[in-house]
Amino acid sequence: MTFPKLDLIHRHRLYSLNNVPPARTLLDVLREELRATDTKEGCASGDCGACTVVLSQPDGSRAHSVNSCIRMAHSAHGLKVTTAADLSADGQLHPVQQALVDHHASQCGFCTPGFVMSLYDLYQRVDGKAVTREEALEAVSGNLCRCTGYRPIIDAACAMHTYPRPAPAAAELKFTDTRDPLNPSYALPTQLHQLLGLRAKFPLAQLMAGGTDAGLWVTQQHRRFEQVIDLTRVKELLRIERYPHHIAIGAAVNLHDAFAALAESRPSVAHFAERFAGRPVRQSGTLGGNVANGSPIGDSMPLLMALGAQVVLMAARKGRIVSRHLPLENFYLGYRKTALQADEVLCWIVVPKPMPGEQLVHYKVSKRWEDDISAVCLAMQWHLKNGEVQSVRIAAGGVAATPARAYQTEAVLTAAAWNEAAIAKAQHTLAQEFSPISDMRASADYRRKLLQQLLQRAWLEQQGHAVAQLGDLS
Ligand SMILES: Cc1cc2nc3c(=O)[nH]c(=O)nc-3n(C[C@H](O)[C@H](O)[C@H](O)COP(=O)(O)OP(=O)(O)OC[C@H]3O[C@@H](n4cnc5c(N)ncnc54)[C@H](O)[C@@H]3O)c2cc1C
Ligand code: FES
Ligand code: FES
Repeated sequence: MTFPKLDLIHRHRLYSLNNVPPARTLLDVLREELRATDTKEGCASGDCGACTVVLSQPDGSRAHSVNSCIRMAHSAHGLKVTTAADLSADGQLHPVQQALVDHHASQCGFCTPGFVMSLYDLYQRVDGKAVTREEALEAVSGNLCRCTGYRPIIDAACAMHTYPRPAPAAAELKFTDTRDPLNPSYALPTQLHQLLGLRAKFPLAQLMAGGTDAGLWVTQQHRRFEQVIDLTRVKELLRIERYPHHIAIGAAVNLHDAFAALAESRPSVAHFAERFAGRPVRQSGTLGGNVANGSPIGDSMPLLMALGAQVVLMAARKGRIVSRHLPLENFYLGYRKTALQADEVLCWIVVPKPMPGEQLVHYKVSKRWEDDISAVCLAMQWHLKNGEVQSVRIAAGGVAATPARAYQTEAVLTAAAWNEAAIAKAQHTLAQEFSPISDMRASADYRRKLLQQLLQRAWLEQQGHAVAQLGDLS
């Protein structure tokens, strides 16, 4: 098997590698081929952040942090990879590094390169300006310090701007891409018709977006992919299109940008987005990947179902591109089984804009605040007219084999007076409507109870009761 050439720009050098299999991770290539051993492996599952690196265009634009342990190396073809040691390659510590040293923010040192890269990502985003503690916490939401040294790390982050700015980087290398983007061993198509053509020709190839689910199959289950079709360069699927009545999000748009687009008309989504994984996962993973992967505990789907989202599936057949629209709830046929046919790709997620008077809640309950998977997710959108429920859509995750609409509970509430008695009846129905399982995240009973409590919470919040935060109770 011949593999396509993999070009990586690292430390002002162009590395051209010819022997990289499709399922080799970026972390392995960095450490073993490029000898960039400053990047560490902790968990190999995207959870700890020790492997965080920054990917950018060769000229440094579009920089963003990712977990290199679950990112396929070929997905970084033609990109610049910045690791912690690069920041001080000229012998001078970068403001991020100097601040960490001065605030005693490194103990074991193992997690430190990952924290450095997450803070470097933040430093670049704010162009060296001051950041708040909240911004700093959000920036390191994908990094774990097992000795819990977060306070000095956050102090360091808030002091980064006080150090002299680093000298501008040396002129970047000129990079001319000579790789065949359609090489079926690891294809990187840039146009929709190329992607669909490849899908039709190689229906068994592994479709790859950000790899934040599929990368784990490599590192945790030791799966090897014979062929990969990577859709993250397809220009059409990187677009977010805004129309008067809906927004269409391309399947390759990363979670961070997708949630930001949804939050334009529904600001509460921004808060929900921060509960989804950590920043590097949100910057790598896509909304399309979350929806297509179809995990019963995926977080975006209950929200999207409550908003009435549709998915657009496309295929190339007999020389033509064909498409079909499905309401998201009809996309899921069973546990990790979707309506996607072998030659189809999920291309768009279409989300209606809010109608006047929309009420919306979406709750995620997990053991950790950040970077954790839901025990239960509940989303509800409703409209009231003259004190009655005119329309309601409720969807839940973590309580069935797929994310699902709560049709029976919706029926109880529809056209009912919006009052405590109706909510109590709906709570009862909601607890009966699903048959959750017990697992390491929660017992079935706890999940059922949560469904009821979250519905009650929606009612109480709508009545103007303030939400109690644990931090308020001290
Ligand atoms: C540390 C960590 C934390 C996480 N936290 C959360 C969380 O809080 N909530 C949550 O819901 N998820 C979470 N996830 C899971 C994951 O990040 C999301 O599901 C993410 O959206 C997957 O997108 P991706 O682009 O990485 O998909 P990939 O991993 O690239 O693909 C996933 C699957 O979807 C298929 N696929 C991808 N795109 C398409 C497409 N356009 N058409 C057809 N098939 C496609 C792939 O073939 C593959 O089978 C977490 C993951 C990690 C590693
Ligand atoms: S090694 Fe832990 S996130 Fe990559
Ligand atoms: S300093 Fe590395 S785990 Fe805390």
